[in-house]
Amino acid sequence: MALLLSLLYVLCLVLPVLNQDMPYEEYMSQIEACPRECHCPPNFPHAVYCDNKGLKSIPKIPSSTWYLYLQNNMIEVLSADALRNATQLRWLNLNRNKITNEGVEEGVLEAMPQLEHLYIDENLLSSVPSPLPASLEQLRLSRNRISKIPAGVFMGLDKLNLLDLQGNKLMDDAVTEVSLKGLSNLVQINLAKNQLTSMPLGLPATTTQLFLDGNSIEKIPAGYFKGLPKVAFLRLNHNKLGSSGIPKNVFNVSSILDLQLSHNQLTEVPMISSDLEHLYLDHNQIRNVTGSILCPVSIDTVDDSINESVPRLRYLRLDGNEIKPPISMDVIMCFRLLRSIVI
Ligand SMILES: *[C@@H]1O[C@H](CO)[C@@H](O)[C@H](O)[C@H]1NC(C)=O
Ligand SMILES: *[C@@H]1O[C@H](CO)[C@@H](O)[C@H](O)[C@H]1NC(C)=O
Ligand SMILES: *[C@@H]1O[C@H](CO)[C@@H](O)[C@H](O)[C@H]1NC(C)=O
Ligand SMILES: *[C@@H]1O[C@H](CO)[C@@H](O)[C@H](O)[C@H]1NC(C)=O
Repeated sequence: MALLLSLLYVLCLVLPVLNQDMPYEEYMSQIEACPRECHCPPNFPHAVYCDNKGLKSIPKIPSSTWYLYLQNNMIEVLSADALRNATQLRWLNLNRNKITNEGVEEGVLEAMPQLEHLYIDENLLSSVPSPLPASLEQLRLSRNRISKIPAGVFMGLDKLNLLDLQGNKLMDDAVTEVSLKGLSNLVQINLAKNQLTSMPLGLPATTTQLFLDGNSIEKIPAGYFKGLPKVAFLRLNHNKLGSSGIPKNVFNVSSILDLQLSHNQLTEVPMISSDLEHLYLDHNQIRNVTGSILCPVSIDTVDDSINESVPRLRYLRLDGNEIKPPISMDVIMCFRLLRSIVI
């Protein structure tokens, strides 16, 4: 008993000290208002854990909550009432619930002016929910049934850097300049596993990582990447790209560092830039790889003593094609920095 009492005494002394960012009274009311169904760790009072509880609705969330975990439940409604006091939320995780667009009550997200991370993966959304708070930095909506991006839904979201829409039902006409307008600082956009047959239009010029795997894209318009001067990581695995759909210089873009074209229908290697570091061409129908085609510079000008002239390629995958070994020596002569080649 004495031990328990002294433990409690120590806890009482230590806890407020641990939470200098939260005044003592606020701390106590936050802990006391913790919903019965949830777990609110005393040493991390801004977080409320309500995940994996079989919840059908959101409990009343206390006002000093910054991080709210509601994933893996059966929640259908994003209730404005339950979240009325949760105006300080920074991070809201609603992955793997049953939220539909009708279940997103009016203004509920907009009423969270500090929200930075909003995760609603694996729900039943059919459209990007709106209105969204302008504070958002990451929006994850993968594996819903989204077929629509309402015009202007991202207007004013100039802090958003990551938009994950993979595993939805987006067709070509859903991803346009009009629907993406406002994303002036987007870095990563994931549109993998949708129903696109052409390259999306209207992507922000800030895009650095573009993921389009698992669509049905057949060709790339000439000069497509002129509008995306920062694109560095480009994934187009599992599409329907044939060599006739790849204009000669379309990938000869110095910003691209990682180019993934696995599982397509290419019969020839594409032309690349000297700056490319990783190239995935496995599982296509390529017959023939010679340095003279793949090498971005003329092989006799590759000179170890002039670093700038050495193509930067370090990793090359060519397995699952129709290439008969040995690989031609001029590939090795060209790519002096190559560390790994998979044939
Ligand atoms: C919001 O906070 C007020 C004041 O602390 C409290 O009376 C009310 O019950 C709270 N409402 C919800 C929905 O949590
Ligand atoms: C690739 O682009 C560079 C720079 O724009 C250019 O100098 C070079 O000639 C191009 N390569 C080919 C094979 O057209
Ligand atoms: C390889 O490509 C070169 C140049 O495109 C062509 O002349 C040659 O016939 C090809 N060889 C095979 C085995 O396909
Ligand atoms: C080439 O780069 C390497 C490593 O970055 C450096 O050690 C070497 O001095 C450079 N050579 C020339 C000729 O600039």
